[in-house]
Amino acid sequence: TAMSAGVGGDESSTSFISSNLGLESLMSTFLHPPAEETSQQQDMEQSLNQQLSEKYGEIYTLHVGPRKLVVLSGYKAVKEALVTRAEDFGERANTPMFDLASNRHGVIFSNGELWKSMRRFTLSTLRDFGMGKKSIEAKIQDEVIALTESFKSHNGKPFNAHLLVNSAVSNVICSIIFGNRFEYDDPTFGKLIRLLDENTKLFGTRKVVLYNYYPFIGSLLGLHNNIKQNIQNLKDFILNFVKKRKLEFSANDITGYIDAYLMKQEQESTKTETYFDEENLIYTVLDLFAAGTETTSTTIRWGILLMMKYPEIQKRVQDEIKTHLKPGQLPSVEDRKKMPYTDAVIHELQRFANIVPLNLSHTTPTDVYFRGYCIPKGTEVIPLLSSVLYDKTQWKTPYQFNPNHFLDKDGKFVRNDAFMPFSAGRRACAGESLAKMELFLFFTGLLQAFTFYPPPGVSREDLNLVPRIGFTLVPTPYKTCAKLNY
Ligand code: HEM
Repeated sequence: TAMSAGVGGDESSTSFISSNLGLESLMSTFLHPPAEETSQQQDMEQSLNQQLSEKYGEIYTLHVGPRKLVVLSGYKAVKEALVTRAEDFGERANTPMFDLASNRHGVIFSNGELWKSMRRFTLSTLRDFGMGKKSIEAKIQDEVIALTESFKSHNGKPFNAHLLVNSAVSNVICSIIFGNRFEYDDPTFGKLIRLLDENTKLFGTRKVVLYNYYPFIGSLLGLHNNIKQNIQNLKDFILNFVKKRKLEFSANDITGYIDAYLMKQEQESTKTETYFDEENLIYTVLDLFAAGTETTSTTIRWGILLMMKYPEIQKRVQDEIKTHLKPGQLPSVEDRKKMPYTDAVIHELQRFANIVPLNLSHTTPTDVYFRGYCIPKGTEVIPLLSSVLYDKTQWKTPYQFNPNHFLDKDGKFVRNDAFMPFSAGRRACAGESLAKMELFLFFTGLLQAFTFYPPPGVSREDLNLVPRIGFTLVPTPYKTCAKLNY
């Protein structure tokens, strides 16, 4: 990719880099691919992001195609923008790619009052379900059992856990949204999971990136057609479900997010202005379904890979599990406090896997003055999460998988404010507490039941930690052997 760089002189008065980068190259630019070998580490030290931020500081402009992006790099700049200056950096960018995903409806990609209504409703509904008849914790535990059974059926032989993990995680958000889970071999469910998985990949491809930066030409060439069709199929499924549910709906029997939304819609029907319409329902459900499936399952798949790569860490987690849980006793959220080592490993897993390195782009609602620069209203801003999760000034060994990043000398769990995989501030992940609960219960439940080994003939050195680039960073496909512990 041809690229030229220079400092100052342009109207935004931040330093600037000119390039024709695509998202794929953009990702590789900012990426610190996990590795422990020194040679790779040195390579990464010299990664472009490092060079860019060292040369241009914690804030710089990237010219990508005809667009200008402002990049915020490192813990201090990202935190200051997203937390201290939350209002100034708290809007979602308007990009062709985001439009495609949302038509600016729903919760992830919307702005203004619409976004406020959807976010408030989503957070409170997730909270209410957490305390409901069957708590979210119990729903996750059901899924841990189902996933464990399906792993068992492979009898310790090598298999690719990708779709099983995705199905288990997706079932958690499905039971929250739709009020029911699916069998893993249900063909309709299988299709939904594949559609999501395919879109996650497509979002990182050159075609779609080209569409994002040259939407007019992209549209003419139909570069975005596959994604568009997949989204339409997902929306059709949700719409059919909503139609059916409307016929059965009873205010005394609210079993899922969709029911709760329909009730809210009814309550708001007398208001002259309401955002609780069908389009926002469909897109909000799509947002939750997609965000609730891909991210958490990708993290768990990194977890299995890392446990195969670092058997001594896997063993220490299992020893801690054995100390606190009887064989067959399902882990519960309460157990987390008693298990600092496991907690540290899960945090480190999220830091190291860095699955949303570019974050979701934000934008400035007005002209914003930040660290001596003027960022014009409407500029796309990337608060770079990889630069926080791998910030040299915040982590002892940023490029190593090292649970000690979250442990003090007595083995107690310690927080680190630069742990920001969910981003921070007013647009921070709305599913953070759900995701944390899922990660703990799935990870602990799986390691309680199984020890993960690479397939025969594959050594731990062979295991590849270089991620594949899509919308998120996913592990390169791998097989595992899940040997029962008892
Ligand atoms: C937004 C990460 C799981 C729902 C985000 C953002 C990140 C993120 C980086 C963008 C924040 C920003 O713009 O500053 C993750 C990670 C997860 C995870 C790493 C799991 C390991 C989930 C789950 C749900 C969810 C399970 C479902 C309930 C959302 C929503 C938003 C969001 C609705 C949009 C928030 C807004 O714009 O107001 N997430 N997420 N996420 N996430 Fe997650």
